[in-house]
Amino acid sequence: MKEAIVLTLLAASGVHSRNNGVGKLPVMGYDTYNAFACDYDGALATAQAKAMSETGLVALGYNTLILDDCYTLRERNSSGFLQEDRTRFPGGMRNWTQSIHRYGVSASAYSSNGHKTCGGYPAAYGHEDQDLEVWRSWGWDRMVKYDNCYIPYDNITMENEFGRFKRMADAIDRLAEKYDEEPFVYSVCQWGWENPYNWAPRISQGWRIDPDVKPYWSSIASIIYLQSISYQATNFYQHGDMDMLEVGNNGQGMPTGNLTLAEQRTHFTAWALSKSHLLIGTDLRNATNETLAILTNKELIDINQDPHEGAALAPFRVGSQDNFNHATYNESYPAPYWAGNSSYGAVFMIINTMNETQEMGFNLTENWAVRAGRKYNVRDMWKHQHVGVAIRNWTVSLGPHDVAALLLTDAGPEPAQELADGSLAPPCALPLLALQCASSNGSYVYSG
Ligand code: GAL
Repeated sequence: MKEAIVLTLLAASGVHSRNNGVGKLPVMGYDTYNAFACDYDGALATAQAKAMSETGLVALGYNTLILDDCYTLRERNSSGFLQEDRTRFPGGMRNWTQSIHRYGVSASAYSSNGHKTCGGYPAAYGHEDQDLEVWRSWGWDRMVKYDNCYIPYDNITMENEFGRFKRMADAIDRLAEKYDEEPFVYSVCQWGWENPYNWAPRISQGWRIDPDVKPYWSSIASIIYLQSISYQATNFYQHGDMDMLEVGNNGQGMPTGNLTLAEQRTHFTAWALSKSHLLIGTDLRNATNETLAILTNKELIDINQDPHEGAALAPFRVGSQDNFNHATYNESYPAPYWAGNSSYGAVFMIINTMNETQEMGFNLTENWAVRAGRKYNVRDMWKHQHVGVAIRNWTVSLGPHDVAALLLTDAGPEPAQELADGSLAPPCALPLLALQCASSNGSYVYSG
């Protein structure tokens, strides 16, 4: 009874919807936009699901597919319903959904919070419940990606960004309650305008932090920079969305990409360890072994999908490599040193943002998840092997724009006072804490 009253009050407050508090891991799957923009049909989309299944991607968790924009006719019918495009989806949408279900892939929806989608097709503003019912009738059941084009005037919405995007969150809740089904995952695509990390976590499970990703290093670097100023909003229930993957888009993609393999590794590592959705955006019919090796990095996927730890990695030094003591935020040279925790051990991500090879050293105790006074086994999650034992410090050599993804597990107390290079270790963790480091009789180790 008491519970019923609380629920009624929450519902009446209009803020606590069923979406809130529903734990959702980042979504893994495929999105048509980076590979094809509007230039696709049902057969091409099904071919991606087939490739996902045949290459083992579905088994790894990439198991939903978003038709991103442009999948209906250009006009609603006279009753306001979305109309199927029987030229591009000849058997109709329900049949198309079944064609991907055969490969173990579910279907997810795209629409926009305005009069039209960004590609100029009918969008769900004012038709939220109606469109959700249509998607459901087509067998779509996983996620709604909700874009931000062609927004109505303020005198129609009479809402701010939060209220405007809450309309779809509420409609998703109504649908789930009506049929007693799992709610769609709600993913807000507002391009990081108006700091969505401040408000989108109240109504959604994901929010884009960036304008559209592009298959160039400058774009990947700038999104990693944006993540460094918004990572705190990500938790087990909701995720900053760094946008769809461009892995595989060297010589292909829309626009045609030029990402080196090192850049693709860095891109995938940063997205996975930031707990972003992992939505493939390349034509998988042409996927090379190198592309598949990146997309199937199970060690990184396991951390992205960690059932117990929801926080994203945090930068422990900001600014560019040559000036890391100062917060010199720079979109071209995002934070190179990141760390966090996982169910499998402490996690470090080191990115060489510079254009030449670098030796990059760091102190383990800069990360809260590593205990001072202990040594650590270091596993390289790209080499997929144990690479040594770290005592206080670790150094990696990285080529231009390449990354190290390291998993550290406890290997016992560190040897007394000895650093890897043979010098004496400070008895307290570096750097500022050393100033307060004292013996039990109260005398400071460092005076002056
Ligand atoms: C953009 C959005 C892209 C894609 C595109 C479709 O606004 O950021 O991810 O959905 O619209 O037209």
